Amino acid sequence: MAEYDVVIIGGGPGGYNAAIRAGQLGLKAACVEKRGTLGGTCLNVGCIPSKALLHASELYEMARKDFAGFGIDADAKLNLPQMMKQKDESVGALTKGIEFLFKKNKVDWVKGWGRIAGPGKVVVRAEDGAETELQAKNIVIATGSEPAGLPGVDVDQKRIVDSTGAIALPEVPKHLVVIGAGIIGLELGSVWRRLGAEVTVLEFLDRITPGMDEETAKTFQRSLAKQGIKFRLGVKVTGAKSSAKGVDVTFEPVAGGAAETLACDVLLVAIGRKPYTEGLGLETVGITPDKRGFIETDHYRTGAPGVWAIGDTTHGPMLAHKAEDEAVACIELIAGKAGHVNYDVIPSVTYTFPEVATVGKTEEELKAQGVTYKVGKFPFMANSRAKVNHEAEGFVKVLADAATDRILGVHMIGPQVGEMIAEYCVAMEFGAASEDVARTCHPHPTRSEALRQAAMGVEGWTMQA
Ligand code: NAI
Repeated sequence: MAEYDVVIIGGGPGGYNAAIRAGQLGLKAACVEKRGTLGGTCLNVGCIPSKALLHASELYEMARKDFAGFGIDADAKLNLPQMMKQKDESVGALTKGIEFLFKKNKVDWVKGWGRIAGPGKVVVRAEDGAETELQAKNIVIATGSEPAGLPGVDVDQKRIVDSTGAIALPEVPKHLVVIGAGIIGLELGSVWRRLGAEVTVLEFLDRITPGMDEETAKTFQRSLAKQGIKFRLGVKVTGAKSSAKGVDVTFEPVAGGAAETLACDVLLVAIGRKPYTEGLGLETVGITPDKRGFIETDHYRTGAPGVWAIGDTTHGPMLAHKAEDEAVACIELIAGKAGHVNYDVIPSVTYTFPEVATVGKTEEELKAQGVTYKVGKFPFMANSRAKVNHEAEGFVKVLADAATDRILGVHMIGPQVGEMIAEYCVAMEFGAASEDVARTCHPHPTRSEALRQAAMGVEGWTMQA
C-alpha cells in the first residue's frame, strides 16, 4: 500500500497548488483526480476556456465595430469552430503544464475517483473499476464545486446548459436566455452577445452581481445594457420546457404578479455553484457538511484529525485564487509552518467589457459596519491612455478609513482593470494609506495613472479631473 504525507483529493486550483507546495516542502504527496486532465473546473471548463472565448469574442467585436473608428477597414467573419479549437488548445497546453509541474515537484497523480475510507485512508477507484488504497498522514479535501440546479429546469447541455455547455455551443444561438446575473451569466452572456446572439438575463434580485459595490454594479449594468444585453430583474424562473425548436422559459415577478413565458434557442442556468462533496466518504471520518454542503473548518482543519479542507468545499468566495491561497496556507500548516490567508485582500474580477475588479470592503459593507470612510474616485474618461485607446468608460474608486487613511476597499470598472487590481492588493497587504499610492510615481501615459488619481481624490487633490 502506497504511503504518503499528504493525499489531496481533487486536482483543481486548490488541489494542484496544494500538491505542488507539498512537493516543494519535501512532503511525499499524491493528488487524486478523476478527470482525464488536471486543473479541475477552472482549467477545463471554467476560468480558462471562458477567458479564451471572452478574449476572442472581444477581438471579433472590436474588428467589426471599433476598427473603423481607428481608420482600419476590416471585414471580420466569425469562424466558430476555429474559435473553439484555439480555446481547447490553450486549455490542453495548460493542463499538460500542471502534469509537468507535478513531475518537477515529485507529486504522484493518482487517476480515479477518490474517497475517504476511514482515518488516514483514501481509496481510489480507477476508470476500469480497480481500487487502490492509499495511506495518508494527512488528507486534503479539494473537490471543488458544481453548478447549482434549479427545480423544473433540466440541464441537457444542448438546449438547456450550465457553464460547461455554454463554453462549447456548436453554433451561435439566436436568442440566449441566462438565468442569474452573476459573474458566469454576465461573462458567458457577453461572449454570445458579441458573437451575434440576442441575450436576455433573468435575475431574482433587483440588482445584478450581488455582493459587488452597488455604484459599481449599477454602472456595470448600464454598460452591459448599452451593449444590448436585456435585463429582467426581480423575476423568479419557475420552469423551462425544451423541444426540438427551442426552450420556453416561464418566470414570474418575485413581488407577485402574472407569469410570463420567453422563447429562446438556448437557456443558460448560472445561479451559483455548490460544494462537491458527494460520495467522498466524509461520514467515515465523522464529517457532516452543513445544509448547503460546505465543510466547516478552523484554519483548514476539519473536525476529523488529519483531514483538511480548502477551496470551494469551504466557506468564502468560490474563486480559484482563494483556493490557491488556502492550498498554500494549508500545506504550510501541515509542514509545521505558519500558513495564513488574509481574507480582507481577496480580489475579484469579472472579465467582461468593461472589466470589473474589486478588492476589500464595499461602501455598503463599511456603512453596515459603521466605519467612517473617505472616497476618492477617478473616471477613465480623464485618463489619457484610455482616451487614445477609445476605451474611456468606467472609473476607479478608492475607499479609505477617514481617521487613518488606510485603504479599505477598491472598486474599478473599465478596460483591463483586472490586470491592475493587484497593485492595490499589494498596497493593502502592506497596510498602505491612500496617500502611499497617491505619492507613488506611476508611468505616463498608462491606465494605471487612474489608480493614483483616485487615491489622490481621497484627500481631495485629484489633479487631472
Ligand atoms: P453567482 O452566485 O455569482 O450569481 C448567481 C445569480 O443568480 C445571483 O445573482 C442570484 O441572485 C441569481 N439567482 C439565483 N437563483 C435564481 C433564480 N431562481 N432565478 C433567477 N436568478 C437567480 O453565481 P454564478 O455566476 O453561477 O457563479 C458561480 C461562482 O463562480 C461564483 O462564486 C462566482 O464568483 C464564481 N465565478 C467567478 C468568476 C470570476 O472570478 N471571473 C467567473 C465565473 C464564476
